[in-house]
Amino acid sequence: MKKIAIFASGTGSNFLAINDALNVNSNIAEVELLVSDKPNSLVVKHAQKLNKNVFTFTPKDFSRKIEYENIILSKLEEHEIDLIVLAGYMRIIGKTILSKYNKKIINIHPSLLPSFKGIDAIGQAIEHKVKVTGVTVHYVDEGVDTGEIIAQKSLDISSLNSREEIEKEIHKIEHLLYPNTIIKLLEE
Ligand code: GRF
Repeated sequence: MKKIAIFASGTGSNFLAINDALNVNSNIAEVELLVSDKPNSLVVKHAQKLNKNVFTFTPKDFSRKIEYENIILSKLEEHEIDLIVLAGYMRIIGKTILSKYNKKIINIHPSLLPSFKGIDAIGQAIEHKVKVTGVTVHYVDEGVDTGEIIAQKSLDISSLNSREEIEKEIHKIEHLLYPNTIIKLLEE
């Protein structure tokens, strides 16, 4: 059984979708650990309710990224993590973790990369009046949303009238695409 660590800072809908999918396919992998830089976030509450191992930290308590990343690294090693899954983790992964988990860190981004990298990808898509956007799962490298693309799914937004509708459809795609991609990667 493979072990994954999810890094998240937000509401945790992807965390829940991944956990549910892995429970259904229970012989492949399990969510072993949640890492969060937002101790009061909803995702932390979800993980605690599910009795998951949780490690939270407050970045401003550290003067340098390397300090908290070294602690994260020790947690990843302690829990023998095979794959790191970023799901709304709003920080750039530094060299400390990247060098130890090369090609073992993935992220989900709500656009068809390489379009609309960085923050508020949905807002960027709306501003550019694109007719099609989507979701990308990619490996994490030292850049922001620049790593090798693993999976993508497009979404026609030409008939969607509000940001809320687009967000809802993007989330629906994410909640299927991310677990399926994780399972495929772990089965390889
Ligand atoms: C997702 O939309 C994902 O694409 C982005 O962060 C969001 C996290 O949402 N990277 P949630 O916390 O999983 O609901």
